[in-house]
Amino acid sequence: MTISEYNTLIQPYSDAQDILLARLNVLEHNLYNESDAHPIHNIQYRIKQKDSIENKLLKKEKEPTVMNAKDYLQDIAGARVICYFTRDIYSLADTLKFQSDLIVIRERDYIKYPKPNGYRSYHIIVGVPVYCLDGMEYFPVEIQFRTLSMDFWASMEHRILYKTKRDNREEIAAQLESYAATLVEIENEFSKYAGG
Ligand code: GTP
Ligand code: MG
Repeated sequence: MTISEYNTLIQPYSDAQDILLARLNVLEHNLYNESDAHPIHNIQYRIKQKDSIENKLLKKEKEPTVMNAKDYLQDIAGARVICYFTRDIYSLADTLKFQSDLIVIRERDYIKYPKPNGYRSYHIIVGVPVYCLDGMEYFPVEIQFRTLSMDFWASMEHRILYKTKRDNREEIAAQLESYAATLVEIENEFSKYAGG
């Protein structure tokens, strides 16, 4: 795809992302209205780069075209919502899902069902209605909800192992999995001091 095609492709995804970020901010202000305990530590977001879109399509054995990007990729727009505690994740996600104009395209609960490597996170792909001159269309935004400790682990694992080659992979993987379990315990300990 050309740069100009890429720019046209991502515009509505970027609009969908803006809408979703605004809604998350509203929820954050409302959820714990009376207390000063905000559920969100920070939000990161990105629009997938042109070369990442093309590489991901090629990996899926699809031509790297605009049409295929729309048809086969659901993470062109992505947001990572870093919360303090697991309960914050479920209250945010549940209230977001309750917004009747959004559609839930896919949900993966790697908190209830962690990946075998120890990865924990709650993923949801939400369809956000974007209105333009020709009418309305849903655009997907992938949201990864994590606690600070889940994000710490995932960032380290990403740095050390994810999608990279290494000789002593298995040994390191076993260590990382045990760290994931330790981090769950630590988070639970902190949670005791924060009304949980
Ligand atoms: P992708 O092809 O990577 O998009 O995977 P998927 O379509 O099967 O979706 P999934 O919900 O499993 O994962 C999507 C994203 O979650 C990845 O792009 C990563 O950002 C993150 N993720 C998933 N698994 C892991 C993991 O084991 N370690 C780390 N660090 N991140 C992960
Ligand atoms: Mg992905």
